[in-house]
Amino acid sequence: MSAAPNILILATGGTIAGTAGSALKRDYRPGQIGIESFIGQAGALGVAANLTGREIAAMGSEDITPEIWRALHDACDAAMDDSQVDAIIITHGTDTAEETALLLDLTLPTNKPIVLVGAMRPADAVGTDGIRNFLNAVRVASDADAAGRGVMMVMSDRIISARDARKAKTTGTDAFKGFPRDSIGTVTPSSLDWFGEPWAKGRAARFDFPAAFPHVPICHAYAGMQRDAVDCLLREETHGLVLAGFGEGNAPRVIFDRLAELAAKGVVVVRASRVDEGLVDRLPMDDEHGFVAARGLGPAKARILLQVLLANGISEMSEVQAAFDTR
Ligand code: SIN
Repeated sequence: MSAAPNILILATGGTIAGTAGSALKRDYRPGQIGIESFIGQAGALGVAANLTGREIAAMGSEDITPEIWRALHDACDAAMDDSQVDAIIITHGTDTAEETALLLDLTLPTNKPIVLVGAMRPADAVGTDGIRNFLNAVRVASDADAAGRGVMMVMSDRIISARDARKAKTTGTDAFKGFPRDSIGTVTPSSLDWFGEPWAKGRAARFDFPAAFPHVPICHAYAGMQRDAVDCLLREETHGLVLAGFGEGNAPRVIFDRLAELAAKGVVVVRASRVDEGLVDRLPMDDEHGFVAARGLGPAKARILLQVLLANGISEMSEVQAAFDTR
């Protein structure tokens, strides 16, 4: 990478680009500020990188769609082969950032750094975290050691791998955590420390980007649930389902009986947990019923991985489990 790297910024909106119009208002609108504003602020602060912006969307990430995911993926993919681009930063709302990050991590090569960044406070809030997170993302993307670590998220001075990133708090600038790996590095506008070496140098994309996203519902466990809690989620074309179970991916007997029936019919059933933290490992019942254990992935990210696998024609239990076991 040259002394002043060329970084492509793909903007999608979110709180990082949001404004309230008054620092004292609680309500705000995401995706109001163009990426040129961040590029201008970074330039004024003397950041040593050539930043070029492109707007993919200007929305709250709750409205993200497979079409926007595809546009992001295709822009990143093209940048991988573009000698004028050294690294990519994606500005994104925090609500679904972990899903976008994992999807891109699974479907893009690792030859150039890709960094997702967001903010928990709008751009005109007192103590906004947006510009700091953005400058941190530029520092990470500019670093010669950033490639080969897969897609990363940069929030609150921490670098978290896409696979590990979780939004764990509804508010507060420290809303993100990494699980099972806490973070893979720390960053400030003036410092960067990696914890360990890149582990995926030169890795090709592991999976094709889905031509279509298969229907994969999430069944959220609750006390007293009955079979209809599963059945109301099913469509004729449902070939995969994620259980957001109690504790270590647990559910009432009546639910496991229903899920076992579905697995016997070829529906891939992944046991994840509604609990924020902790592994869901394989249990004897998984072999008995043909279930898959989500391991370190929470339900929303387990759904993304299962959609990618199904879209790539992978539905055999041991192959699906191997993908959930791969870090
Ligand atoms: C969003 O995800 O777009 C809204 C919340 C945020 O960015 O923090």
